Amino acid sequence: MLDSATFLTPAQIVAELDKYIIGQHDAKRHVAIALRNRWRRLHAPLDMQREIVPNNILMIGSTGVGKTEIARRLASIADAPFTKVEASKFTEVGYVGRDVESMVRDLVEQSVNMVKHRRKEEVKSRAAQAVEDIILDALIPPVTGSNSGGPKLSVGFGSDASGVPESDYELNERTREKFRLKIRSGELDERKIDIKVQQSSMPGVGMVGGPAGLDEASLSGLQDMLGSMMPKKTRKRKVTIAEARKILLDEEAAKLIDMDEVKDEAIRQAENAGIIFIDEIDKVASRAGKGGGGGPDVSREGVQRDLLPIVEGSAVSTKYGIINTDHILFIAAGAFHVAKPSDLIPELQGRFPIRVELQSLTKDDFYRILKEPKNALTKQYEALLKSEEVELSFDDAALERLAEIAFQVNAEVENIGARRLHTVMSRLLNDILFDVPDLIGAHARIQITVAMVEERLRGMVSNRDLSQYIL
Ligand SMILES: Nc1ncnc2c1ncn2[C@@H]1O[C@H](COP(=O)(O)OP(=O)(O)O)[C@@H](O)[C@H]1O
Ligand SMILES: [Mg+2]
Repeated sequence: MLDSATFLTPAQIVAELDKYIIGQHDAKRHVAIALRNRWRRLHAPLDMQREIVPNNILMIGSTGVGKTEIARRLASIADAPFTKVEASKFTEVGYVGRDVESMVRDLVEQSVNMVKHRRKEEVKSRAAQAVEDIILDALIPPVTGSNSGGPKLSVGFGSDASGVPESDYELNERTREKFRLKIRSGELDERKIDIKVQQSSMPGVGMVGGPAGLDEASLSGLQDMLGSMMPKKTRKRKVTIAEARKILLDEEAAKLIDMDEVKDEAIRQAENAGIIFIDEIDKVASRAGKGGGGGPDVSREGVQRDLLPIVEGSAVSTKYGIINTDHILFIAAGAFHVAKPSDLIPELQGRFPIRVELQSLTKDDFYRILKEPKNALTKQYEALLKSEEVELSFDDAALERLAEIAFQVNAEVENIGARRLHTVMSRLLNDILFDVPDLIGAHARIQITVAMVEERLRGMVSNRDLSQYIL
């Protein structure tokens, strides 16, 4: 976490990114510096902290070369709130200026979820204790009322050495202790009990569209308020103890956390650690007046003008409070095939001082992407089939051929970068995925060879029309 005493060094951040992303060293170095700088800022004197602005990054590279992936992984390394928007979405019909702020609201929402989750983890053992009590009460309700012989009575007669229970109360207590142990050991997990669960939704209070003059923040604030005014409905459900534990744990943990504190902390996290990824920034880049044509360009520049205050730093109101965007890290990305970064309005250009170009991926990169990342496609498919006890493996030569095919289809049909690997792989493995487990049973071993790759994909690569649709 960014506010802890130590944090990954730039080199360590790059090493983390290397586990998932092949190549793109330049981009990795820049984002690593940006991330470390955020930690450095939080450990600088307070008056300086206010002055240090993040060096926002502009990633330039065609589709499917890892731009989004790098930003996403960066956020997860920092355990930082992250949100992604497409700038082009704001040029769509029906767009009104304020909507641009919704990206900041999304970030806060994300941050609230993260902080809530963390707090729930912290109170988990206390919540588990409460849940155990509830389950126990449902199984063996405690004895109450005076006729049962309360604890007072048992003092007089009770404790004789034989340990024979003297009262209903005592008997009840002993049974409860026995069952408590059984609940804890999971012995009774399959037994059904009745529990009361909170009704989560509040039908009838949804306000689609909403009254005119209300922005999104006040609208959802209003909804929350109405929701909290309604009496909380509970509903009885019959569930197994195992299920009850899951359902109740969340409810009990929620009761134990202080939502006001969560909101404050979430805003603070979003302000200081939040990352907003603005994709397709090049789609709003062409400047009005340049290259003729009024209409769409005006709205594009309009979007840039709307983005500007947010990127420059402004206060945005959300239903969790007001957030200042001064220190949020913005990473913008685009292919910039037609428009150039210099086509952005100057003010916005100035707010993205770091430009990194991502390289087009080579055949060899494709081969490594298939094989090396922690989440590599080959590893994903191996894991999928392993669940059916089928062992899948790939010959190196087969992967090389796959990489070559993907590269070739990209060159001939359309360059969609590493995304092509997904289509090629699914084409290759489709039949196998269908035949397991009906025709290919457990304990089978399937080794993908070059011959298999050739057989399943060759026809399509040589036939341009076919590959257009299928690969
Ligand atoms: N350099 C890379 N290394 C590993 N995987 C990559 C790389 N580039 C792209 N991918 C994979 O391709 C897919 C698309 O990548 P993405 O980052 O979304 O592309 P874009 O540059 O268009 O944002 C993802 O599944 C990602 O894992
Ligand atoms: Mg992308």
